[in-house]
Amino acid sequence: MSSGSPEYLEQIRKEAEAELASVNDETAAENFRVRYLGKKGILRELLKSVKDIPEDQRKQFGAGANELRIQIEEKFNLLHSQKESDVTVDSSFDPTLPGFPFAAGSLHPLMNIRNEIRDIFLSMGFTVAYGPEVETDYYNFEALNTPPHHPARDMQDTFYVTAKELLRTHTSPVQIRVMEYQKPPIRSIMPGRVYRNEEISARSYCLFHQLEGLYVDENVSFADLKGTLLAFSRRFFDEKTKIKIRPSFFPFTEPSVEIDVECFLCKGNGCSICKQSGWLEVLGAGMVHPNVFKSVGIDSEKYTGFAFGIGIERIALLKYGIDDIRLFYENDMRFLKQF
Ligand code: PHE
Repeated sequence: MSSGSPEYLEQIRKEAEAELASVNDETAAENFRVRYLGKKGILRELLKSVKDIPEDQRKQFGAGANELRIQIEEKFNLLHSQKESDVTVDSSFDPTLPGFPFAAGSLHPLMNIRNEIRDIFLSMGFTVAYGPEVETDYYNFEALNTPPHHPARDMQDTFYVTAKELLRTHTSPVQIRVMEYQKPPIRSIMPGRVYRNEEISARSYCLFHQLEGLYVDENVSFADLKGTLLAFSRRFFDEKTKIKIRPSFFPFTEPSVEIDVECFLCKGNGCSICKQSGWLEVLGAGMVHPNVFKSVGIDSEKYTGFAFGIGIERIALLKYGIDDIRLFYENDMRFLKQF
């Protein structure tokens, strides 16, 4: 076989492929590379020898030799680069695993409670209304049957902004705003933040949240108030929850009541949450006072209504078993992450 013949090239190809097939570690790969593809390797030498080939065969042989070199180099690189990735990939890392989850935010516990209460009233046909947190004296007190020198104003220590403007002390002023622009029948709930100038402690804070309710129509009676709040309590706390209605006083309702629900933890048997009484105070309520209707131009001979105010913090403290109201406002992630 002449050193310039196509058969010679074929033989080198066979030998090279056989050797490449038996390469099974890095050292063997490197040996192969030097032997065939290195500067003094077989394939380079082959190309160098082209010049010695008789002229009539030179062109064909040169092309064949070059092609052989390229093919062997490609096959080797394929194998070699696989080896390389085997070496550099950290096998403890699985690139097909899903990524790390982003830390997701969540609703504040007070908003969870507000939403739960809201959804129950929405399902009963109530709609949601909002009012401003900076109110006027008129909406916060006067229109709610609490005239300037009424002693009930001493019940609430108020943050005044100006002589006539203040931070609302309850959500009841939103009742007035709703009745001013809407004619009966009215079924509204009015959640929001309220402010009182109280000394800050584990039990009270300078701001908190209420959810006001208002139902005005013809023939609305105290039985409707009782039925609505009983239905709410049974859906929010427990389907067998009992409620207790105690007489109370608010200037804007007559009669006025406070409603206790049976303690959902001890089912009325007495525990530390309900201070052994079996009952929890959760809301103030009553029949809308005729003077309130008068201030918004609703005929109290034709219409009657009931209103209620639920303290959201109070329910959240009870429901989550939290013993310090200040935790709700400090935005400590260790606290918030638990909800
Ligand atoms: N506004 C009253 C309070 O803040 C609660 C209330 C609302 C009472 C509606 C009766 C009717 O304590």
